[in-house]
Amino acid sequence: MSLVVAIDGPAGSGKGTVTKIIANKKNLQYIDTGAMYRCIALKMLEENVGLEDTEKIRNILNDIEIDLEGSNVFLNNRDVTKQIRTVEVSNFTSPVSAIGFVREKMVELQRALAKGKDVIMEGRDIGTIVFPNADVKIYLDAKPEERARRRVEQNEKNGIASNYEQILKDIIERDTRDMTRENSPLKKADDAILVDTTSLTIDEVIDKIINIIENKMKE
Ligand code: DC
Repeated sequence: MSLVVAIDGPAGSGKGTVTKIIANKKNLQYIDTGAMYRCIALKMLEENVGLEDTEKIRNILNDIEIDLEGSNVFLNNRDVTKQIRTVEVSNFTSPVSAIGFVREKMVELQRALAKGKDVIMEGRDIGTIVFPNADVKIYLDAKPEERARRRVEQNEKNGIASNYEQILKDIIERDTRDMTRENSPLKKADDAILVDTTSLTIDEVIDKIINIIENKMKE
């Protein structure tokens, strides 16, 4: 029997960092669904495809091959790990991910990626839509100011220039759009466990979640 751990929450809640570490510690396959939406947005930007250009978006989706190898992301065999993290791609991914048929395709790919495997999948709709029957559902959250601070720190590490005020503004805008969109808005599943990471260290968050997973595995 395979195990599915769903980790949802807004940008900067700590999802990415803790999910990767837990995947290693618990030997689960790490699936970053945000990276998949980012790939579509990157391809659209590169090919000058607008949000209204339904036919071209459908063509992109038909030809798309996304491979997630650890934290490296390959789009049609090209390593795009860095390119998908720019501010431009981040901001464009939000409206792209609000398109219903884009989501349908991504959900289909995500379910296929997890088939028969023990996975930990992070995103916005994993516990609500992709795997409503996930074995473990966690909803990570943190105050917007703290999330912006973390994003600045992360960007600095990756050599990406960033500005706190602008990032905070982008985060709030993106949250609002992700939470109010018609198709699969970001929200905590009723049966998800809420973990507020504002004043927790990464290690504390990891311990908390690993405890939850281990208790579940004992059942
Ligand atoms: O987690 P992230 O910042 O890499 O996500 C990028 C964008 O993709 C963000 O605007 C929300 C969207 N997204 C989504 O709608 N559903 C998911 N399962 C994952 C990400």
